[in-house]
Formats: sequence, C-alpha cells, structure tokens
Amino acid sequence: MGKHTLPEDFFFGAAMSGPQTEGAWRSGGKIENLWDTWSNEDLGDFYNRVGSYAGNDFMARYREDLALMASLGLTTYRTSIQWSRLLTAEGEINPEGAAWYHELFRASREAGLECFVNLYHFDMPTFLFRRGGWERREVVEAYAHYAELAFREFGQEVRYWFTFNEPTVEPEQRYQEGVWYPKLHDFGRARTVQYHISLAHALGVAAFRRAQAAGEVRADAKIGLINAFTPTYTREDPTPADLEAVRMIGGINNRWWLDLITAGHLPEDVVDTLGARGVNLPVRPDDDAILAEGVVDWLGCNYYHPTRVQAPASDRDEYGLPRFADEYIWPEARMNESRGWEIYPQGLYDFGIDVRDNYPGLEWFVSESGMGVMDEYKHRGEDGRIEDPYRVDFVRDHLVSVSEAIAAGSPCRGYHYWGLIDNWSWSNAFKNRYGFVEVDLMDGYRRRLKRSADWLAEVTRTHVLD
Ligand code: BG6
Repeated sequence: MGKHTLPEDFFFGAAMSGPQTEGAWRSGGKIENLWDTWSNEDLGDFYNRVGSYAGNDFMARYREDLALMASLGLTTYRTSIQWSRLLTAEGEINPEGAAWYHELFRASREAGLECFVNLYHFDMPTFLFRRGGWERREVVEAYAHYAELAFREFGQEVRYWFTFNEPTVEPEQRYQEGVWYPKLHDFGRARTVQYHISLAHALGVAAFRRAQAAGEVRADAKIGLINAFTPTYTREDPTPADLEAVRMIGGINNRWWLDLITAGHLPEDVVDTLGARGVNLPVRPDDDAILAEGVVDWLGCNYYHPTRVQAPASDRDEYGLPRFADEYIWPEARMNESRGWEIYPQGLYDFGIDVRDNYPGLEWFVSESGMGVMDEYKHRGEDGRIEDPYRVDFVRDHLVSVSEAIAAGSPCRGYHYWGLIDNWSWSNAFKNRYGFVEVDLMDGYRRRLKRSADWLAEVTRTHVLD
C-alpha cells in the first residue's frame, strides 16, 4: 500500500538544552559560561542583540512546557544539565542548582515524561575556559569530576544519560571556522579540542559504569553519546582525490565518534593522515586505556543536513593550515534558505544503513531533527496560529526515511524533534524558529501551538505517516 508506519514502541519526544531554554543566567548560584561571557562582551554578535540571558523562559514555565509536550503525545524529551549551574567554581554541588534539576525531573515524571539527560551542550564554564578550556587536560579532569557528581546526585532519578551533545561542533565552530567565541581559525587546535573531548567522553562513561556498579546509578540506566552526523557525499563520478576528501571529512566528523563509542578507539587511518600532515594529537601513554572505556550503550544521532565534498583546490587553507576538502555544490540540492542547510531526508536512511552494516548491534535514535524558519510570524493565520505546512513536510519526509531504515533492519528506537518549543539558537538567538510551539517574544514568551502541532499529535497517536 506504500504506507509508512513506525513501530508501536517507537518513541517520540523533544530535544532541547539547558543553555538555550533555562534563562535565569545568574540566579540560583549559576556561574558564567561562555555564552554569558560572549553576550556580555559582544552583544552585537547576537541576532537582534538577544544574548544568553533569558533562554525561552523555561525555568519559569517548565510545568506549562511539560504539559504541552505531553498533550502532543510525546513520552520523552532531552535537556541538559548546565555544568555552570550544577557546580560551583570550587567544583562542589551548588545546592540551588541541584534543587532545580531535582524539581525538573520530578515534574517530568509527574507529567508522564521520561527525561533524557545530557551533561554538556557547548556550555563551558568561563573560568575553565580561561584556564585553557578543552585544550587542557585539567579541564578534561574537571569534566570527569562533574560527571561523577551528576551521576551520584541524580542517579536514582535519571535513566538515560549522555556525556556530550555534538562533540564535533565546538572544535569546528569555536576553533576552526571562527564562528563562535573565541573565533579561532586553527585546524590543529581544533583537533586537540576534539581529542580532549573524546577523552572526557570516555572518562564520563567510565564514571557512569563505576557509579552503576556501586549502586549510585539505577541498574536500568544507560549511557550514550549524541553527535551530529553528516553523511558525507561527493560527486557522482568521483576521482580518487574526491574519495580521499570523503574519507577524511567523514572520518573526522562521523567515523571518529562511531569508532570511539563502539570499539573504544579512534580511526587509525584518520589519526595517521592527520599526523602525516603535521597535525599531532596530544597523546599520552595511558590514553588508549582511557579511550577503551568510551564504548556506550546506545547512540543519539542529530541529523540536519549532509556534507558534500570534493578534492580541495589547494591542500592548505587561507591560514596556511591543512585542508582536506572543498565543498561540493550538488546542483539538485534543496535548501532551507533560512538556515542555509540542505534538506536531504535520505541522509537519515543512509546513516541507518551505515550503522546496520558497519556498527552492528548499535542501537540508536534520532536525537535531533528540525527545521528553523526565519520571520515565521509572517505566516500567522487569522486565528493567530502560525501556518507551517513546510514543517509537516520536513518531519514527515525524515520520519519516512527512518521507517525505511527500520524496515531495512536498522535498530532506530525513536525520534526527538529539535526545538519543539521555539528556543534560543546561540548567536542566531530567535532568528530561525524550529518549534511546533511558538514562543511569542512580543507577548512575554507566551506559548502558542502552530498549525503543524495538530499533525504531530496525530502521528504520535497513530504512528502512521502517509
Ligand atoms: C544542533 C544543536 O547543532 O542544532 C542545537 O545541538 C542547535 O543546540 C540546533 O540549536 C539547531 O541549530 P541552530 O544553529 O539553528 O540553532
């Protein structure tokens, strides 16, 4: 019949993060993180000068938001604990911060929602950044300590833990592409950061296993990693040099993490090529044993767009650093013009098949997928609701791809929509709106369902897509 459905036990949920929703940036004992610091130093870098301060007002409205999620038929959601809220600068639990998360987890249970908890979402405490951030081992150790305290504090309440969200992004945005504070262009430093985050992840998993063995974490709890996967493609008739570009870009962004979480090591071919090009990782003698602990119970895949590459015109970039690929512009690409990202639902199917074939036994779920649209208020209908059929098409097409991957034998367990309730998108602030639920900034952060929410509620009820 050509009907696409999702399994009965397939879960639907929402994805969000502490720094993008909570607000209350300097109350309750919260210390500064890099987003607060960047906002304070250069508010003009943020769209419409909206900095990190208020999130989407979640700390004031969490009960309403949880009820909204449940009313749309969601059973799970993910947020993150903010390191800068849970711990003091002395590395001790901040009681007010801990009380907030206890309350959030309690309210989630009461609303019938399972809360997935991530420990790090690009939100480095500023004092640690000043000591070198992810370029320093000391900060890797500090993360391990933070993770240990979080497992101990919430171990009886939380079932689904994640060490990091998108560990590919900070190296790239902060250290390589010069987009986020401190806006560096240094491929080598970016790889050092990536390597140290890998160690921090592995130490986090090790701390989880220890806490579980000691009974501090529930016996039925699982630990995972959430990463942004960008299936990497090249032109139809590739040269060997194009394929080499795919190997390195796919290797740095995707295989690096997939190998770490399934086999407990980094892809040798990638590390070797980096070394041959003068990019040496700050490896210490015991690191192999640390990385070996990085194997997880399952994986979250954030998928927004593919990466299309070709052989680079020059093997050095404008800063004199190694360059492994140029962008390949696929003539047939369909774009989300607001965000500048290609819309390619098949990437999710291809990811599922990659997992099935190359990482057998690895369970996964779509931990983020979403469409951000600029000036969405212009789509407001007569009854005040935003008319967003493009969002329905986007999500349906991606879910169809997931259902086809499952039918082909890929163990995908669920789908979390990113930004179910409009939230603060880093330096883009509230420019591109992702939500099925509008946050009206002109009306005190008031929540209002967009039209697409009706469709979502129907799909979560029936699991039928077309
Ligand atoms: C992911 C992040 O990269 O994509 C989120 O985990 C982010 O934090 C989301 O908000 C959407 O990207 P953006 O830049 O449009 O907010």
